[in-house]
Amino acid sequence: MGTLEGTRVLLGVSGGIAAYKAADLVRRLRDAGAEVRVVMTAGARQFVTPATFQALSGHPVRSDLWDPAAEAAMGHIELARWAEIVLVAPASANTLARLAHGLADDLLSTLCLATSAPLMVAPAMNQQMWAHPATQANVATLGARGVVLLGPDSGGQACGEFGAGRLVEPPAIVERLAALRAPGVLAGRVVVVSAGPTFEDVDPVRFIGNRSSGRMGFAIAAAAAAAGAEVRLVAGPVHLPTPARVARRDVRSAREMHAAVLAAVAGADAYVGAAAVADFRPAVAAPDKIKKTDGAPAPTLLLERTEDILAAVAALPARPFCVGFAAETGDVEAYARGKLQRKRVDLVCANRVGAPGEGFDADDNALLVLGPDGFRLDLGRAPKAVLATRLVELIAQRLPAPRAAGARA
Ligand SMILES: Cc1cc2nc3c(=O)[nH]c(=O)nc-3n(C[C@H](O)[C@H](O)[C@H](O)COP(=O)(O)O)c2cc1C
Repeated sequence: MGTLEGTRVLLGVSGGIAAYKAADLVRRLRDAGAEVRVVMTAGARQFVTPATFQALSGHPVRSDLWDPAAEAAMGHIELARWAEIVLVAPASANTLARLAHGLADDLLSTLCLATSAPLMVAPAMNQQMWAHPATQANVATLGARGVVLLGPDSGGQACGEFGAGRLVEPPAIVERLAALRAPGVLAGRVVVVSAGPTFEDVDPVRFIGNRSSGRMGFAIAAAAAAAGAEVRLVAGPVHLPTPARVARRDVRSAREMHAAVLAAVAGADAYVGAAAVADFRPAVAAPDKIKKTDGAPAPTLLLERTEDILAAVAALPARPFCVGFAAETGDVEAYARGKLQRKRVDLVCANRVGAPGEGFDADDNALLVLGPDGFRLDLGRAPKAVLATRLVELIAQRLPAPRAAGARA
């Protein structure tokens, strides 16, 4: 019996040079026991004929949203309901952009909106197209929404260039699909994630904040949900959509986040503190807007320490597995090791902020994960969605066995 026995896979093929590899992919999916139906974009038809996919899948290939005969046989909504997994391989830069923006102007994009099945995309394109900020922003949007990103691989490209943008090879795609169908590595686990900045009010119109966008934390919440966990996300003030299958609670200040996280971690298996919580707040928030008065000196702000949320969770008697983040501009590793020891947490993810294109409010991040037993794993630089998946896999590996019911805090 194949690893995908009886799984109904809707394969979307878009217009890239790697479309020819999708033919091999169909064969391998069927070898693994999947039932495959293929939808091609108009671009994909420029590279491979529908007849190839029809012969390999054993079903007519659909391309046109406006084909009355095909709609009468199996309407596009029916097709969207039929799918247990939607896989877009290769996913062109154009198709990624259309999916990220929710367009529904051809059959494939319409199906991707109309289905409730998990969506997996395997990008393939020229390395410059992949590296373009527009493509990276689209990938980050999709990742934050829970779309599973597969690759791309790096290496020599059909265009003669070298870099990231190669389609992941079909056997690896089939393997990932099978892993997605298997119970997730965090199935049955409860994960709490805090994300984003906090705002500490100075008066009713001003606050002290920071540049965290929340994207790393939201990507972790999405990856944990995709891995089967029940996810409780405590979000500071950010402009991000809630990932699929994630319960979200919005807060503003460190004090509110502290209370929300302590409530959320009751019964949780893991806590990932990815929020950039303010370390200090004005000791008193003025009830009215502070005015500038001619001749009067500028006001002085008296600051006080905020709550240490990570340390508070780590000090609970039946605490969850605790993962902290250390965002620093210099000497990141030494600071992160200190944080690991001081706060007695299970893992610290060190990341450098302030470097162009990395850290706060950027699409990419570079994470170095440290553990108390001398554990050190460099996850490298990658889009936040990719790093989030790697981190979730690592947490799943190191998580203690589930506690007996009733033994939790
Ligand atoms: C020879 C050739 C090769 C191409 N290869 C790729 C590719 O590998 N990846 C990609 O994203 N776009 C590639 N393109 C551009 C896409 O085909 C084009 O953006 C098209 O609009 C994609 O449409 P679709 O996403 O609806 O299939 C290529 C174009 C040509 C002419």
